[in-house]
Amino acid sequence: MTTTNDYSPGLEGVISNATTISYLDLDKEEIVIRGYDLIELAQKLSYLETAYLVMHGKEPTQQEAAALRKTLSDQATLPPEVYAMLKSLPKQTHPMDALRTGISMLAGYEDPAILNDHHPEPNFAKGLKIMAKAPVIACNAYRANQGQPSIPADPKLGFTENILWMINGKRPDKESVDMLDMVLTCYIEHELANSTFTARIIASSLCDIYGAITGAVASLKGPLHGGANEAAAQMLVDILQKGGAAKAEQYITDIRAAHGRIMGFGHRVYMRKYDPRAFLLKDYLPRLLHKKPEGEEMYAIYRKVEEVMFRETKLYPNADYPIGFILYLLDVPIPLFTPLFLCARIPGLIAHVEEQHKENRLFRPRVIYLGPRELHPEKAGAGR
Ligand SMILES: CC(C)(COP(=O)(O)OP(=O)(O)OC[C@H]1O[C@@H](n2cnc3c(N)ncnc32)[C@H](O)[C@@H]1OP(=O)(O)O)[C@@H](O)C(=O)NCCC(=O)NCCS
Repeated sequence: MTTTNDYSPGLEGVISNATTISYLDLDKEEIVIRGYDLIELAQKLSYLETAYLVMHGKEPTQQEAAALRKTLSDQATLPPEVYAMLKSLPKQTHPMDALRTGISMLAGYEDPAILNDHHPEPNFAKGLKIMAKAPVIACNAYRANQGQPSIPADPKLGFTENILWMINGKRPDKESVDMLDMVLTCYIEHELANSTFTARIIASSLCDIYGAITGAVASLKGPLHGGANEAAAQMLVDILQKGGAAKAEQYITDIRAAHGRIMGFGHRVYMRKYDPRAFLLKDYLPRLLHKKPEGEEMYAIYRKVEEVMFRETKLYPNADYPIGFILYLLDVPIPLFTPLFLCARIPGLIAHVEEQHKENRLFRPRVIYLGPRELHPEKAGAGR
């Protein structure tokens, strides 16, 4: 029998899984990934090396890292029908919705026997296909929105470099590639975020990995989750357009007076602590400001909003606050911020789906029922 004592709105504090993948250690203020501190990984390993670690639980040898790079490069192609689908979508389609549709569509290109084989090897093989193809879908969905021709991935470029290449067809500079690589690493895995939980719930019905990741895309789009990086950057742009740093405090005061939320602040698990990813990334901001003429002014806005939020609410920025600003400075179009978050998170999602399939039990929680209890025979069937 379920009682109100069992009820935790938003499942706050509820433990739903045992995992060997990652853990937010609040006492040590560490994001533990397979026994490593994510913040150290972000400074020492590349995104693809960290992806290997997330998926396989160990750092790759040089050969293993090279094999992963090659698999991703070989798989970074799309069936022509997927390109055609992107072009056929209404121009207002958000790239996140196009990505959701595209990943779902890819399931149809798998041999049904492999699609429904949930053993580790086929799951990793399918997962890597999704990881390789997702940035191609995301960037070209944006380009299709803009009425621009598609840009396929360039096999001569690395995974991260290709993302910047496919956005605008320009060879990216090393500073931008390195910064994006660190951003992707910071996003790679984060315990049981809403989208990861979504993927595990879907996988627990023994649905395939395409379905699980498609569901994760939908979850990540929401502004309380991955959509916050887009919303946070949009807020900085809004404040800039409304007069700059001098107007930042009033802007925040107005939103709070209307009981609105300031995107990029607060976190279910950290809430009153600094997100370690945001703490790391904020130090990289000053060196990127030269990339945009408005960089310095936006940095002043960034700091003012953080100062006002802490003074008034004691809330700290989460990773989406600096990342929203970093991606803006790297000239990534704002509608691609959340799709890139999703692309970065795919190794984590693969690991979670694989773990769920390996030790599966169907998720099926209960409710506190607040509806009517008594049957009303005189009403039953009256509407028929
Ligand atoms: C992430 C988030 C959804 C966590 O929410 P949660 O654990 O469910 O906490 P709640 O929504 O219950 O918020 C608790 C309190 O803090 C306030 N709060 C939390 N985040 C806030 C924010 N970003 N701006 C303003 N107030 C905020 C809530 O209004 C609430 O206040 P109240 O108790 O007076 O009503 C929340 O912090 C948020 O909405 N942040 C903005 C979106 C964001 O950046 N998301 C990315 C997360 S990585």
